[in-house]
Amino acid sequence: MKKILVTGGLGFIGSHTVVELQNKGFEVLIIDNLANTTLEVLDKITSITTIKPAFFNFDLKDRKAVQDFFNNNFVDGIIHFAASKAVGESVQIPLDYYENNIISLTNILQEMKVKNLSNFIFSSSCTVYGQADELPITENAPVKPAESPYGNTKKINEEIIADAVKAHGLKAISLRYFNPIGAHATAKIGELPIGVPQNLIPFITQTAVGIRQELSVFGNDYPTIDGTAVRDYIHVVDLAKVHIVALNRLLNNQQKNNYEVFNVGTGKGSSVLEVINAFEKVSNIKLNYKIVGRREGDITAAYADTNLANKELKWKAELTLEDALLSAWNWQLQLQLAVGSWQFSHKKAF
Ligand code: UD1
Repeated sequence: MKKILVTGGLGFIGSHTVVELQNKGFEVLIIDNLANTTLEVLDKITSITTIKPAFFNFDLKDRKAVQDFFNNNFVDGIIHFAASKAVGESVQIPLDYYENNIISLTNILQEMKVKNLSNFIFSSSCTVYGQADELPITENAPVKPAESPYGNTKKINEEIIADAVKAHGLKAISLRYFNPIGAHATAKIGELPIGVPQNLIPFITQTAVGIRQELSVFGNDYPTIDGTAVRDYIHVVDLAKVHIVALNRLLNNQQKNNYEVFNVGTGKGSSVLEVINAFEKVSNIKLNYKIVGRREGDITAAYADTNLANKELKWKAELTLEDALLSAWNWQLQLQLAVGSWQFSHKKAF
């Protein structure tokens, strides 16, 4: 049984990936410092798969702790999710973002070098393209100067990985995610935003249950189908599955190059208003929203050219926007039940 380390394995994408890894028979070890999640997620993963992953609670910035981990545990592959990810916050506390996201990565790569470990998957983002000049976005689109320190850490980390692959003979794949949304079909794991959600889908579901009064749609004067910004929303379970495909590519030595980059999206762009309409349809709830000005730093449109992932990984997203929104909605309803504060008024329903 191959052993896989998942850093940030109790986070949003990490937890879904742990479930898919266990479903495929991998033994999973998780490192997570609980900075942006809770230990409860470990129990939820266990209740979905009936297998409790090994869990290590420490901070990847701690080089000694990372050394100790690798001295005591052999792993066949590493999927590195652990990182700070709030764009707005990264502008306020850039040094914390650089320290956390970059030192964590170099600590792991240093130990991979020492132990001659070679299979590494990095959780990157389509944010590295900025506003791409051509749509859909291929992997050949130029990487642009980052709009935020968060985005810059993704860009820098990709460069660090490329240099480490060249110098130290390890093998790596960066997956550039478009917009991950949704939750597991069991509604036991999902996205847990702390405070006011910055991302669209959690804001929509929180508005639908009445935690937020109203959704602000940031801008309707973009040159798009209806004036609102367009993104490629991918179901987190589809996204989790592509990590297993990429991992097998590394484990089976199927790479074309020791360092490869793939876009991970559905290939379909949806505007904010299209997302709202789709949500209203699947939830049967009329959403309170108003159009406001653009959000600083937002781009007009981004969606993936999925040809490379289709061809090389033989992977494509299977779930639809509606599937993802329904799962996000079920997850929100489940959260409401869990906190016992379900105050949804049926007056809001169609
Ligand atoms: C954001 C980050 C991106 C990061 C990704 C992680 C920015 C500029 N980009 O992507 O780097 O990788 O999250 O998930 O923050 N919207 C509203 N009202 C809201 C919230 C969002 O209209 O209350 C709109 C946004 O303007 C955007 C779309 O919904 O057009 C999606 O927004 P969001 O979910 O925040 O994702 P991105 O901004 O695409």
